[in-house]
Amino acid sequence: MTANGPGLEPQDKITAEIVSRHQQYQDDLAAGARRTGTLLDFAPYRSSVLRHPTKDPRLVDPETIELVSPAYGHWEVAPIESDLTAQHVGGEPQGQRMVIEGRVLDSAGQPIRHQLVEIWQANAGGRYIHQRDQHPAPLDPNFTGAGRTLTDENGVYRFTTIKPGAYPWKNHLNAWRPAHIHFSLFGNAVTQRLVTQMYFPDDPLFALDPIYNSIPEQRDRDRLVAAYDHDLTSPEWALGFRWDIVLSGPQATWFEPEGDEH
Ligand SMILES: [Fe+2]
Repeated sequence: MTANGPGLEPQDKITAEIVSRHQQYQDDLAAGARRTGTLLDFAPYRSSVLRHPTKDPRLVDPETIELVSPAYGHWEVAPIESDLTAQHVGGEPQGQRMVIEGRVLDSAGQPIRHQLVEIWQANAGGRYIHQRDQHPAPLDPNFTGAGRTLTDENGVYRFTTIKPGAYPWKNHLNAWRPAHIHFSLFGNAVTQRLVTQMYFPDDPLFALDPIYNSIPEQRDRDRLVAAYDHDLTSPEWALGFRWDIVLSGPQATWFEPEGDEH
């Protein structure tokens, strides 16, 4: 029995498994295996073992899939939806105000114009407004944690929000997710659909997190980390972070399998 309940394994065991699996990946590469963006069957991320894809992806006819694909909302995207600090009449949320800006590109480097970008995140205390998140951090009455916008003519998106806190989860004892913001992009076609997470520079939790480390190569993990941008920072107002996203091709941002909730 532990403070978090019975049966949870220690961080040291999880970390050792991460290191071991990454080494195995490198050994496989040296033996001629192909590179991969993510390890779907990644044991340190305990629940992924039960629900990762077990069959190879199938090619489908894009026109067919678009008949049953997700539909956009019934109303147009309003400018206020990209400002998560201004969505409540009661006031502003607690936390470090910041601006996130970046370009959405295709694999040829061309901007993805006028396409939907959605985000969701925990509040400054690391808590989501979600019935499954009941850990004892305060909810913020002035923060919902969801926003959306369209990219502009140059493929640029921009959000104003607050920095999310790290939060605990029950993958193992004392498991904490690095601060992150979830991103969903539709791109120009359903086949470009991307769901991923953006992280912040130099987070001490990176090495400990099984989700971040389900990406086996450092260069790919680095692509999920926004850069602090002093030119984007506004005096007396907000810190600036820049994060570009590539939707398909060899420079593509890592994406997560459907059903991932963390
Ligand atoms: Fe999350």
